[in-house]
Amino acid sequence: MCGIVAYVGQREACPIILKGLKRLEYRGYDSAGVALLNDGDLKVFKKKGKVADLEAHIGTQDTSSTIGIGHTRWATHGEPNDANAHPHYSTSKKIAIIHNGIIENYASLKKHLINKGYEFHSDTDSEVFVNLIEDVQKNSNVSLAEAVRLALHEVVGAYAIVVISHDSPTQLVAARKGSPLVIGVGKGEYFLASDATPIIEYTNEVVYLNDYEIAVIKDGVMDIRTKEDVVQTPYIQKLELELEAIEKGGYPHFMLKEIFEQSRSIMDSMRGRLVAENTQLTMSSIREYATRFKNADRIIIVACGTSWHAGLVAEYMIEEFARIPVEVEYASEFRYRNPVIREGDIVVAISQSGETADTLAALELAKSKGAMIFGVCNVVGSSIARATDAGAYTHAGPEIGVASTKAFTAQVTVLSLIAMMIAEMRGTMELTALRSLMLEMEKIPAKVEQALQLDKEIQAISEIFKDATNFIYLGRGFNFPVALEGALKLKEISYIHAEGYPAAEMKHGPIALIDENMPVVVIATKDSSYEKIVSNVQEVRARKGRVIAVVTEGDTVIPQMAEFVIEVPNTHEALMPLISVIPLQLLSYHIAVLRGCNVDQPRNLAKSVTVE
Ligand code: F6R
Repeated sequence: MCGIVAYVGQREACPIILKGLKRLEYRGYDSAGVALLNDGDLKVFKKKGKVADLEAHIGTQDTSSTIGIGHTRWATHGEPNDANAHPHYSTSKKIAIIHNGIIENYASLKKHLINKGYEFHSDTDSEVFVNLIEDVQKNSNVSLAEAVRLALHEVVGAYAIVVISHDSPTQLVAARKGSPLVIGVGKGEYFLASDATPIIEYTNEVVYLNDYEIAVIKDGVMDIRTKEDVVQTPYIQKLELELEAIEKGGYPHFMLKEIFEQSRSIMDSMRGRLVAENTQLTMSSIREYATRFKNADRIIIVACGTSWHAGLVAEYMIEEFARIPVEVEYASEFRYRNPVIREGDIVVAISQSGETADTLAALELAKSKGAMIFGVCNVVGSSIARATDAGAYTHAGPEIGVASTKAFTAQVTVLSLIAMMIAEMRGTMELTALRSLMLEMEKIPAKVEQALQLDKEIQAISEIFKDATNFIYLGRGFNFPVALEGALKLKEISYIHAEGYPAAEMKHGPIALIDENMPVVVIATKDSSYEKIVSNVQEVRARKGRVIAVVTEGDTVIPQMAEFVIEVPNTHEALMPLISVIPLQLLSYHIAVLRGCNVDQPRNLAKSVTVE
């Protein structure tokens, strides 16, 4: 949610910043801007729209500079327009800021600053921040770095900021609390960004700034200290990210590339963790906390969006295999409703980005009440990964399309392994049953590959339904969360209204919506609820609903009732979400493309939701 990039070194800053902003555009894309400092001249270029619009706006203007900051925005305070785009100047135009996050007490600070004569040209909280820094610097007659440090004591909220000043031509000052900031360390040059993707082609040595830390980069030297002015020794990590992992690799969209990567990404999520032949499950973080997991009274899963759907699949699996009660909570509700958390509880936070503000706050709350926190994150070194007691990375690789696809299947894979491990430790599953589940798990990548071959067939179905205004998705048991996920995918990228329901719940209300114009996607694979879902399909047909059914290969019953049938390979019912979700991802992708929507950057959305 908002991407920030900054550079200081010997090279031209502007091209590095613009390229970096393009890589970060998935974090927000309603406006973009850069500030460059050359010979004491601090220039800001900004524009509503995408980074490409900013580039066009800059055109042939002089951008020569070896130090600069840039931002791509997802609006929080103030509508997307040129004025609200970052960077923001201070009133004297001597300081400029880029900011990702929200300053909660901006209104009172702004009032105070207006009374002192400061001027505002935008509706943003970030412009308040930069004027506050200027005010502190003026009043206390201190350096820019010190003014930033002191100003941070006055703001309440979340931020990752980089500040540049006309008076300090070789200096960047950065700070974070709650929003991510990575510093790439090159030879006499530094690259700052919201994540490592803009950095990787220049250096693989990075420092993840911690909350309440301030980094001052001046004359090629970096100094990190806390908000309390205590000097910190930076921990330089080596990135393992490959450049091609963040490029489209010949696909028209990141989303399609990521859908097609799933066979490999599921394999990567399992790698080194499962040897079915020996009934061997290895996840050191679970083994380390074996006693806690074995004796857990309850597991509470907190997550948002697609990760929450993965959590629902995990609930069904953990209860089925490990017999521990599980509750799945929207992180945003959990954090504000005074939940009952007991010592024997384990809280599992699931997050692709590892930066989702609500999930982070939910786990902090649970931690403060004594629960053990386990993280399932994709982004290595992310805030959630670092705030947990233990965790397992999903290893899906960077997910750049805003609509989550391979992250979901990677989460379900890791959560399946966790459910199996707890079941094994608690002895709640027969060894033969466990082994056959594990053997089936090993076959999933090949079956996903097979499901991906349905692409053309699904594209043809998409042509027929591309102009629909509503969709209903139905599933039961393990496929119920898949119905929710299918509906979410469709609405977020094609802007078609879609609802997911447990199939049996339909007759308690949604059935009233069904007529000859209503497409109903039913996930009806052969499992323990199959007979029941056959009845649900009949109920839809009786009301002339247009059924698109996802069925198990060789099914002969549902094809007689459904208008369109998508056959997927069979597997254990608990693992079916890993396969049945594939056609739904492809359906939403093709419908969105046919409707001319921007699938990688759907309107109003951002990849990493770092505000509540
Ligand atoms: C949907 C989607 C979102 C995210 C949600 C949580 O396609 O991407 O619903 O799943 O914002 O994000 P993470 O997993 O990063 O915490």
